[in-house]
Amino acid sequence: MSAAVAIISSVSGTVAAVVMIALIKRCVRLRRKMKMKKKILHRLAHEMQACDDAAGSVKIEIDGPVEKFLNEILSEKPMRFTSGQLAACTANYSTELGSGGYGVVYKGELPNGLKVAVKVLKVSMNKKIQDAFMAEIGTIGRTYHVHLVRLYGFCFDADTKALVYEFLENGSLEKYLFDGDRRKRLEWRTLHEIAVGTAKGIRYLHEECQQKIVHYDIKPANILLTGDFVPKVADFGLARLGERENTHMSLTGGGRGTPGYAAPELWMAMPATEKCDVYSFGMVLFEVLGRRRNYDVEADGESRQWFPKWAWERYEQGEIGCVVSVAGGELGEEDRVKAEMMCKVALWCVQFQPTARPTMSSVVRMLEGEMAIVPPVNPFHYIMSSSGGGGGGSSSSGGSTGTSGSTNFSSGGNTTGGSSAVSPTTAKKKSTDVMVE
Ligand SMILES: Nc1ncnc2c1ncn2[C@@H]1O[C@H](COP(=O)(O)OP(=O)(O)O)[C@@H](O)[C@H]1O
Ligand SMILES: [Mg+2]
Repeated sequence: MSAAVAIISSVSGTVAAVVMIALIKRCVRLRRKMKMKKKILHRLAHEMQACDDAAGSVKIEIDGPVEKFLNEILSEKPMRFTSGQLAACTANYSTELGSGGYGVVYKGELPNGLKVAVKVLKVSMNKKIQDAFMAEIGTIGRTYHVHLVRLYGFCFDADTKALVYEFLENGSLEKYLFDGDRRKRLEWRTLHEIAVGTAKGIRYLHEECQQKIVHYDIKPANILLTGDFVPKVADFGLARLGERENTHMSLTGGGRGTPGYAAPELWMAMPATEKCDVYSFGMVLFEVLGRRRNYDVEADGESRQWFPKWAWERYEQGEIGCVVSVAGGELGEEDRVKAEMMCKVALWCVQFQPTARPTMSSVVRMLEGEMAIVPPVNPFHYIMSSSGGGGGGSSSSGGSTGTSGSTNFSSGGNTTGGSSAVSPTTAKKKSTDVMVE
C-alpha cells in the first residue's frame, strides 16, 4: 500500500514539475513577445512624432487650394482658380500694381504665403479667342526660365478671366528708367546685367524652348525685376489674346506691338518673325543707355528728340562716348566699354531689314563681350533719305554706311544671323514706314 502511495506521489511530483517547467517557459515566451510589442509601439510612436513635426513645418491645408496648387505644380500644369478664390487671395482686389493694355494687375497672396500678381483681363472673348486663350495657357504655363515670369495659374469663370503670375517685388524696369528718383538708383553694372538677363529670356523663347514663342511686345514695362534686380520677361505668349486698349496699336499683323518698340514689318503688314522682338529689344537698349524715353518732345534740341537716331549720328561722328555719357554721367572704364557695346548692339538690333538684325543668341554673346562687334551700319538710312534732308540726317546720307562694306554685326564671320546680306540700297526700298512716332 505504502509502495503504491510512493509511486503515485512520485508520478504526480514529476507531472507537477513538467507543468511548472512548461508554465515557466510560456511565461518567458510571453515576456519576450511583450517586450517586442513594446519596442514596436515605441518605434511607431517615434515615427509618428517625426511625421507630425514635418507636417507642422509644411503646413499643407488639405483640400484647400494649396494642396491642389502643389499637385498642379508637380504635374507642371497651371492651376485653375475660381473667381471666389481670386477675390479671396487679392483681398477683394484691394492692391493695384498697375494697368496695361489687357487690364488691371492686382497684388495677391496664396494661402501658403506665396505672393502673386493677378492680371484681370478686359478682353472680350469669342469662341476663337477662348480657344487661343486655353492654348496659350498651356504653352505659357509650361515655359520655365530664370529670366521669364512664371505663370502659376488662371481663372476662366463666366465673369472673370484672369492670369496668376509670380509676383516680382521691384515691378517693371520702366519705373527705374523713367521715374524721377528711381532713375538714379540703378548702377551701370546692374543695368548691363538687366540687359543681358532680358536678352537671355528672349533667347530662350526664340531658340531654346520646345515651341518657339515670339513675344511681339518687348518693352521696359514687360521687363520685371526681382528684389535683387534680376530681370524676368513678362507677358510672353499673350499676343494672340486679341484686341487690347489704349497703349497698344491695333496693327494689321493682328494687334501686336507697342508704338516706339514695334518693328517696321509689324507696322507695314509684312511677314513678321522673331526678329521683330530683336528690334524691340534694341529700342529697349537705347532707353537703357539714355535712361529716357526714346521719343521725348521735351528733349534739348530737335535732333535729340528721337534718341536712337541721335545716338546713330553721334556714333557716326565718332562721338559714341557722348551717347554713353548722356546716360551714365561719370563712368569707370569697364562700364564705359560695356555701354559702348550696348550702343553698337542696339544699332544692329534696330536694322530696318529683319535679316540684318542679329539673333538673340548673338545679342547675348555680343553683350557679354564674347563676340566682337563690327561697326554697325546706319539703321535709319531709309528715314533719313525719305525725309529729304530735313530731319537732320544730312551727315549720314550714304557715307559711312556703304563704306563699312559689311552688314554683318559680328567680325567673327560665323555669326548665327546667317542672312545679314542687306545693302543700304535694299534698306531704302520702302520709305513710307512709320518707325518714328
Ligand atoms: N508679376 C508682376 N509682379 C509685379 N508687378 C507686376 C507684375 N505684372 C505686372 N506688374 C505691374 O503691373 C503693371 C501693368 O502690367 P501689364 O498689365 O502687363 O501692362 P504693361 O505691360 O502694358 O505695363 C506693370 O507695369 C507692372 O508695374
Ligand atoms: Mg505687361
